[in-house]
Amino acid sequence: MNVREQLLALNDELRRLKSEGRRTVTISEDNLDQLRQAVADVTTIETAAPISAEMISQPLVSAAAPTAMSPVEPTSSRVRQPAPSVVPVPVARTVVPVYTTAPLPAPPVVTLPAGDKTTRWAALRELVLNHPVCQAHVRPGKQVVLGVGDLDARIFFCGEAPGPEDEVQGEPFIGPPGQLLTRMIQGMGLKREQVYITNLMNWRPEMALDARGEQIGNRAPSPEEIKFCLPFLRAQLEIVQPKLIVALGKTAAEGLLGQGPIKTLGEIRGQWHAFGELPLMVTYHPSYILRNQSNSSKRMIWEDLLKVMERVELPISDKQQNYFL
Ligand code: URA
Repeated sequence: MNVREQLLALNDELRRLKSEGRRTVTISEDNLDQLRQAVADVTTIETAAPISAEMISQPLVSAAAPTAMSPVEPTSSRVRQPAPSVVPVPVARTVVPVYTTAPLPAPPVVTLPAGDKTTRWAALRELVLNHPVCQAHVRPGKQVVLGVGDLDARIFFCGEAPGPEDEVQGEPFIGPPGQLLTRMIQGMGLKREQVYITNLMNWRPEMALDARGEQIGNRAPSPEEIKFCLPFLRAQLEIVQPKLIVALGKTAAEGLLGQGPIKTLGEIRGQWHAFGELPLMVTYHPSYILRNQSNSSKRMIWEDLLKVMERVELPISDKQQNYFL
């Protein structure tokens, strides 16, 4: 165990003692010195692991003189040592925000009206965009996002959740990953408007805001959030009735396969799975390609899309067959 791990283990033990009702711990002067040294040595502990506000604001180790809130322990359990002193607690300079959201209610029951696809989709859009739970999770100036595309599409792409640009425009896959997805679709010989594109989630999973009121980064949706939005995804599938689904990335694959966490996407990508009766191809998220611009990464995702093209009987030219080789 390195020093950081030891300090985190100490923190866990102190928390455990606290949960048992202990208010004080007694430490020998030698141990105290070692602890001071360790704390002095570890200057980056605060960024190495998520630290909660509670950990920052409350001293984790306090050997201060007993008070009404920190009763004296029975002498038998106390080590007789010189006057106790307060141990410096690592102070967080850069805090990794831990964002927790209020529990969600039960997933909605979606009943689509009778009518043609356009009528049913318009009703679904009205429902989702005005749903009080969805609305409660978008910040001022941002939007709830439903899928877009051809309601007769054979291919139904499903990503994770709207990104920063998407929640502003109210359309999925508009930002850089979306632009790459559009180019991939064009590589398949299709226009973006000829497929259906959506996400597991209808709002951007929230995180803390920076000083300008903009969200800091993105996070993957929680299983509860995915569960809540799933009826909206099912309703889109019920309307579009595609030939197959393409899950973009690990989170989308986890959400659609519903078998819990997937260790690595590499194990399951490029293979046919199922979402109910529908064939489901799992491939990398376009963001992965943006981070790994090598031809071999592009070829992997492309090979998965070639399988999709075959399955929906799209023509494949020699040029398309050999992209990124
Ligand atoms: N934008 C989306 O709409 N979905 C993603 O998964 C990522 C970015």
